[in-house]
Amino acid sequence: MTSQPTLSLRDKTEMPAFGLGTWKSKPGEVYDAVKVALSAGYRHIDCAAVYGNENEVGQAIEDSLNAGVITRDELWVTSKLWNNAHLFDDVRPALEQTLADLRLDFIDLYLIHWPIAFRPGVGFPAGPEDWLTLKEAPLEKTWEAMIEVKKAGLTAQIGVSNMGPERIELLTGVGEAPAVNQVESHPHLQQRDLLEFCSNRDIVLTAYSPLGSTDREHRKDDEPALLEHPIICEIAEELDASAAQILIKWAVERGTVVIPKSVNPGRIEENLASLELSLTDEQMKAIAEMDKGYRYLDGEFFTKKGSPYSADGIWR
Ligand code: A2P
Repeated sequence: MTSQPTLSLRDKTEMPAFGLGTWKSKPGEVYDAVKVALSAGYRHIDCAAVYGNENEVGQAIEDSLNAGVITRDELWVTSKLWNNAHLFDDVRPALEQTLADLRLDFIDLYLIHWPIAFRPGVGFPAGPEDWLTLKEAPLEKTWEAMIEVKKAGLTAQIGVSNMGPERIELLTGVGEAPAVNQVESHPHLQQRDLLEFCSNRDIVLTAYSPLGSTDREHRKDDEPALLEHPIICEIAEELDASAAQILIKWAVERGTVVIPKSVNPGRIEENLASLELSLTDEQMKAIAEMDKGYRYLDGEFFTKKGSPYSADGIWR
């Protein structure tokens, strides 16, 4: 079986640097995807309440544990607090629901999904009344509740997603720095400054949308196709590998966690096998040249429909 690289968190816990993404994996598909992945040797599943599929992910985890495919100790499960549960008293119930859906007593990592808040009960805002400002739902209070659920043993680690240095400093000031920051990252959005900022503070960076998330809604017509980029395709040919495998291995080589999503059994295996590749310094350098600060997920949704949030303000 392919050996699994890990990254050390601040408390020396080893986090698997490669996992299965489940955003956009539909109920009806994700059960098989998780089972295939765990059988193939995946040790890390990345989830979130808002993906609407944790119940099915949980069924696959439970069945795999019961079948002896994997033990709980070997498995890393991440989930994320949705924007409608940022108020202090709403954090624990949200995590308890996730634990019930995932059929677990605890998860390994719980993240604040976005630095954006909705009114309790609002899945996606339909009008101005559905939003809460960060004055009404301060991230520091949400973080205090995250510290509490960690103390209570419902999650082993706590972290954030979609946050920049300013937010990370703010939360660190509450008393505990995030263990992980999960952000979009791939060759067109390398996040070098943020990666350096995080590693200076012993915060591990997890790269989402490593393949460009071509299966998401609201794609732009002119967005760059990472999987067809000539530099990536050329390196793939040199190594007799696929473009996706180059993108995944690049992310691991540069010291991030990476969570490619797939519901296709062949591609689930292919993505894991990318860990066996070695990229040369020249190949790493050629990919480094591809950075252009391009976001596939530009946060535009969160600035519409009477939102008090601005596109620039999200990533601070
Ligand atoms: P599928 O689930 O049918 O395999 P991201 O992880 O950046 O969000 O990208 C997910 C998208 O990339 C999905 O459309 C997924 O499709 C596709 N994908 C996953 N693995 C591969 C691969 N090895 N080759 C090509 N496309 C892939």
